[in-house]
Amino acid sequence: PLVSMNHFLPQAKQEKFAVGQFNMNNLEYVQGIIEAGKEEKSPLIFGASEGAIRYIGLNNVVALARIAADESGLPVALHLDHGSSFDVVMKCIHAGFSSVMFDGSHYPLEENIRLTKKVVEAAHAVGISVEGELGTIGGVEDDLVVADEDAQMANAQEAIHFWKETRVDALAIAVGTAHGMYKGEPKIRYDIIDEVSKQVEVPIVLHGGSGVPDEAIQKSISLGVGKINVNTENQVESTKVVRQLLEQNSEMIDPRKYLGPAREAIKEVVKMKMRLFGSSGKA
Ligand code: G3H
Ligand code: ZN
Repeated sequence: PLVSMNHFLPQAKQEKFAVGQFNMNNLEYVQGIIEAGKEEKSPLIFGASEGAIRYIGLNNVVALARIAADESGLPVALHLDHGSSFDVVMKCIHAGFSSVMFDGSHYPLEENIRLTKKVVEAAHAVGISVEGELGTIGGVEDDLVVADEDAQMANAQEAIHFWKETRVDALAIAVGTAHGMYKGEPKIRYDIIDEVSKQVEVPIVLHGGSGVPDEAIQKSISLGVGKINVNTENQVESTKVVRQLLEQNSEMIDPRKYLGPAREAIKEVVKMKMRLFGSSGKA
């Protein structure tokens, strides 16, 4: 069955590894991601954004994730990514999600706390884990578009206050990564990760995990990051395969002939991330 993130996040923080959230965009993502988890014996999180839910269909998302989790025997969470309202969160919980993110980062601090608290109360009552967010992560992800100049680092003291008030199970803070691939190297504020992580009991979440150098990922994990979100790198690698195959074979029309190899590419990316994050062998 699908499990809440609390099945593996406390262990991740204690043993200093991170569990990957890999976003689903279609069936081939679900299959590629779960195959990687099986080969690496790793816990994993399926991320479903509101855009992906609109595309795949809410009940299909839950059915796909549930079957993948059941057949794999792995601890798998199905997590709403960047949920924008209490209403969306509730719809996902009722449909069968085992975890949700409420992203109130664009609200003033006290309003973010008030709204996140309401989500935590409802979700915890039924055993669902909650991720909250503070600070603004730059870049583009589905409906979320933040210009570079509007991206804002989280304030460490505010983040600690936010956690003490809300008691979320995972805390996303903007520390210099961005959604999408990077133009240059991200400058990660390790000092913020360190300061916040020491004073909250739950792991820090790193959004925009694509394109971050391996050493930066490892250092972040050593300081208290226990969940890392990856989407764009899977999109880049799988699309590269499809583009090349279609360019080289103008007669190719069977989707299995190009989506199968795309699925393999996703599996390879995810396996590499699981090793990098240290979650391999933790299931
Ligand atoms: O919420 C999802 C992630 O933050 C994905 O970021 O597309 O840069 O890998 P990414
Ligand atoms: Zn994100």
